[in-house]
Amino acid sequence: MSKNLIIAIDGPAGSGKSTTAKIVAQRLGFLYIDTGAMYRAITYMAIRNKILDDQRKIVDMAGKSEIELDFTDGLTKIKINGEELTDHIRSIDVNENVSNVSKIEELRKILVNKQREMGTKGQSVVMEGRDIGTVVFPNADVKIFLTAIIDERAKRRAKEFADNGTHVPLNEIKANLQNRDIIDSNRDTSPLKQALDAVVVDTSNVTIQEQVNTIIDEVHKTANKLGIELNIN
Ligand code: DC
Repeated sequence: MSKNLIIAIDGPAGSGKSTTAKIVAQRLGFLYIDTGAMYRAITYMAIRNKILDDQRKIVDMAGKSEIELDFTDGLTKIKINGEELTDHIRSIDVNENVSNVSKIEELRKILVNKQREMGTKGQSVVMEGRDIGTVVFPNADVKIFLTAIIDERAKRRAKEFADNGTHVPLNEIKANLQNRDIIDSNRDTSPLKQALDAVVVDTSNVTIQEQVNTIIDEVHKTANKLGIELNIN
């Protein structure tokens, strides 16, 4: 049986991770796992249940929750205990609170365990997040760290909101991204940081297609070394 590959893609909000990781996974025929969606879904539930201020309750809730991620037709669908939450997890409210929820150490343990289970189910995966190459899968076969300048990241988020029919001022988005960068990079447990053996891809001035190709090339090199044949679309 040939070895399953784990491709870890990390980077800050708006660096192009999701768009890139989805296309890479589709072209390679690998499973795509968006770990940010898990932190977002727990944050949404914490807001809805009015327990944002109570870390213990958030951890209890997460521990008892069955989280299902499903990626079809270019969209990550997420369910908690069978309830579809996909339409709620990218709201401004969730954006503003998700970094603080993601700081909770016990919550991270629960979600990291789930992510490890999801990533080792007998299929090659592309997993994206903040700590995939450092904590979730430190032995990932390929590690990519995506970056982009803050203005470019803010513009991309503004376009995402606009595409969904919401106008959010650019300076508000930029402030939210900067704030999340600070919290995500400075938390005690598994902060956002580049793995030493990650390939850094700056997406500020390249097209999606170019960044996808760079990553596919890296996967190709690794697959060749391991004697694994890829079916690239
Ligand atoms: O990738 P995203 O913007 O959907 O992630 C939302 C938040 O979740 C982000 O601000 C930090 C957190 N996160 C994390 O702490 N660890 C991960 N592996 C993925 C996301």
